[in-house]
Amino acid sequence: MYTQAIDLAPHGDTATTGDARERAFEAAIAQDRRIEAQDWMPEGYRKTLIRQISQHAHSEVVGMLPEGNWVTRAPSLQRKAILLAKVQDEGGHGLYLYAAAETLGVSRDELIDALLSGRAKYSSIFNYPAPSWADMGAIGWLVDGAAIMNQIPLCRCSYGPYARAMIRICKEESFHQRQGFDIMLSLSRGSAAQKAMAQEALNRWWWPVVMMFGPSDSESIHSAQTTAWGIKRISNDELRQRFIDATVPQAALLGLTIPDPDLKWNAERGHHDHGAIDWSEFRRVLAGDGPCNRERLAARRRAHENGAWVREAAMAHAARQARRELATAATPEASEA
Ligand SMILES: [Fe+2]
Ligand SMILES: [Fe+2]
Repeated sequence: MYTQAIDLAPHGDTATTGDARERAFEAAIAQDRRIEAQDWMPEGYRKTLIRQISQHAHSEVVGMLPEGNWVTRAPSLQRKAILLAKVQDEGGHGLYLYAAAETLGVSRDELIDALLSGRAKYSSIFNYPAPSWADMGAIGWLVDGAAIMNQIPLCRCSYGPYARAMIRICKEESFHQRQGFDIMLSLSRGSAAQKAMAQEALNRWWWPVVMMFGPSDSESIHSAQTTAWGIKRISNDELRQRFIDATVPQAALLGLTIPDPDLKWNAERGHHDHGAIDWSEFRRVLAGDGPCNRERLAARRRAHENGAWVREAAMAHAARQARRELATAATPEASEA
C-alpha cells in the first residue's frame, strides 16, 4: 500500500571528500541516472533507503490486516473475490520491497525482526480500525489514493531496484483505488443507511489520510537531503495538496461531505485551502499509541509464529535440493542413469 514520510534516517558520508567514487555517485545523481545495487553509494544514502524501503514493505504487509478481516464478510461473491485479490496484491508489494531492500545488504530476517520487535515503523494509517464494510471503500479510495500520489514520484527514485518495484506497484494501486471508489459509489447510491455508512467512514478516514503525507515541509528536516539524493521528488505539502485537489471532486460525485469546514477553493492559488491538521494525533499514533497499534503488531507476530513451520519446511527442502545438486555434479553419470 504505501510508505509515509517518516523518513528520519541519519545521514553522513564515510567517503572522503574528493573521492572518485563519491564524484561518480554525485554525477549520476546530477544527471538523473539510476544508482544500482553494485554501485558505490554514501552510507547515509544506503541507510536512508533501507529505512524507507523497509518501512514501505512493512506498511504493505501490515496493511493487509484491516482488509483481511473483511474477506469473509464481504457482501457478495464478487466483492469477496476483488478484496481477496487486492489483499494478495499488498502481500506481493511487501515481497518486491523486501527484495529491493535486500539489494542494499540487509537480510529480510533482520527487517522482519525489526518490525516484530517494534523497532521499525510502518504507516500509521493502519493503526486505525475498520469496523464497517464502508471502510473497505474508504481505504481503497482514500488510503490507496494517497499511496498512488506518494508513490508515483518514487517510480523516478534514484535507486534503480526501488524505482522499478514502484512501477509495478503503482499499476496495482490504481486498481485498488478504483475498487474502493466503486464500493463508495454503490453505498452512496444505495439506501439512506448505506449512504450514512459511507459518510461515517469518510469522516473517520479523512484526517488520518491527510496526515499520511507526513509533517509539513517546514518541519520535515530530512526532506532536503532525501530530495538532494533524488529519493524524494515532491514535498509532503505539495503531495498533500495534489491529493486534496484530486479528491474533492470525487467526494462531490459521491454526494459525500469531506469533514473539513475550512475546505474551500482558492481561485488565486488554483488549489483548495484546508483546515489545520492535528499533528499531536499523528505523533501519538506514530509513537505507538493509536487505536490499533498493539492489535496490529500482535496479529503480525502471531502470523509469523504460525508460519514458522512453512519457513522450516522451505529451508529443509532447499537444503535437500542443494545436496542433490552437489551429488549430481560429483557423479554426472548418476543423473543420466
Ligand atoms: Fe494498495
Ligand atoms: Fe500496496
